[in-house]
Amino acid sequence: MALHVRPVADGDIASVIALWGAAGLTVPHNDPFADIKFCRSSSNAEILLGIDGQELVATVMVGHDGHRGWYYYVGVDPRLQTGGLGREIMSAAEEWLKERGVGKAQLMIRSANTKVKDFYKRLGYVEEDRLVMAKRFAPVPDWQNGQVETIVLHLEMLSRPDREPAQPPEIGKRIVLERMTIPSVRFYRFLYDGVGGNWTWVSRRIMDDDTLAATLSRAGAEYYLLSVDGEPAGFCELERSENGKDVELSYFGLLPGFIGIGIGRYFIDAAIDLAWQPETKRVWVHTCDLDHPRALGNYRRAGFVPYAREVEILPDPRLAGLPLPPRSSERGHAPNSLFRDHAAAEELPLADGAAR
Ligand SMILES: CC(C)(COP(=O)(O)OP(=O)(O)OC[C@H]1O[C@@H](n2cnc3c(N)ncnc32)[C@H](O)[C@@H]1OP(=O)(O)O)[C@@H](O)C(=O)NCCC(=O)NCCS
Repeated sequence: MALHVRPVADGDIASVIALWGAAGLTVPHNDPFADIKFCRSSSNAEILLGIDGQELVATVMVGHDGHRGWYYYVGVDPRLQTGGLGREIMSAAEEWLKERGVGKAQLMIRSANTKVKDFYKRLGYVEEDRLVMAKRFAPVPDWQNGQVETIVLHLEMLSRPDREPAQPPEIGKRIVLERMTIPSVRFYRFLYDGVGGNWTWVSRRIMDDDTLAATLSRAGAEYYLLSVDGEPAGFCELERSENGKDVELSYFGLLPGFIGIGIGRYFIDAAIDLAWQPETKRVWVHTCDLDHPRALGNYRRAGFVPYAREVEILPDPRLAGLPLPPRSSERGHAPNSLFRDHAAAEELPLADGAAR
């Protein structure tokens, strides 16, 4: 396979981190986003990408410290390993160092990664009698075992809102909200990844296609597509209990190009109208401190009332190549004063399982 090798560019970050995750190169004590950013800020280092067609298949982080060359994040797409790509990307990294006058390069192998030693031996690297010592200057990042902690707020409404049914706003465009039969995995991924890409919607993103297909066809799930002039603009998902009394608004959101055009208010009200059927007694929703900063305000304005908080462990979004958005505390809020605009929410019990 003839590999095209080029330096990493802005649009590559998600696929680079996805490849690192798949190749087992991401570890709890290294934040790959920070590592990429730091490497790119140096004029003595580069992340080289091996591209086959349009696809990223191999990476190496290469650099020198003014004396020796170093390699990190040497990885090949697991589906393509042992096909010569590792050799090719390493050869490109060696050229990169030689062009800069570096006479010798070295690398470290984690003790658990025994088999990779033979790969480097085949490429001419030899084991040297050195003891590696290290000291960490920066705190270990918030990147623990592939999980992040988040504070989840649960909100509910116990009666249908006292207002007229929601009507699409007059914005000079045709706004349609209609039920989808079970969406295809592909279309659902388009909606889910598009709406939740910036807001840690990760649990379904990391599902394989078969698991996602089974999840989408579960009993009680309903899907609604919002379109504007025929183009998908957002979606919502409801989960109705077997007796129909309890309905969760499980997913709700607009695609990025449709935020701020004046349809959000209508959309949440219309989703609530769809949730309320004659037998419905309660509609509930949850939001967390990694969600869109305005999510909570929108739900409250629409009539939801907070009733419990809980700490939830989510799969780390970075495993799916997503950045971790700043938490509410990092958006200028005091630590633990999540949802500070809503003092009443602060008084809520911190429950282990808030679903009723
Ligand atoms: C290590 C890695 C980059 C090698 O890439 P690759 O595409 O599988 O390797 P290649 O096919 O280019 O192999 C090059 C040579 O090494 C040999 N080789 C590769 N892996 C080997 C292994 N585990 N044991 C023995 N030889 C091995 C190949 O047989 C080949 O030999 P040849 O060219 O003389 O016939 C890839 O396996 C990988 O991404 N692993 C997971 C991530 C990782 O461990 N990275 C290293 C961190 S230090």
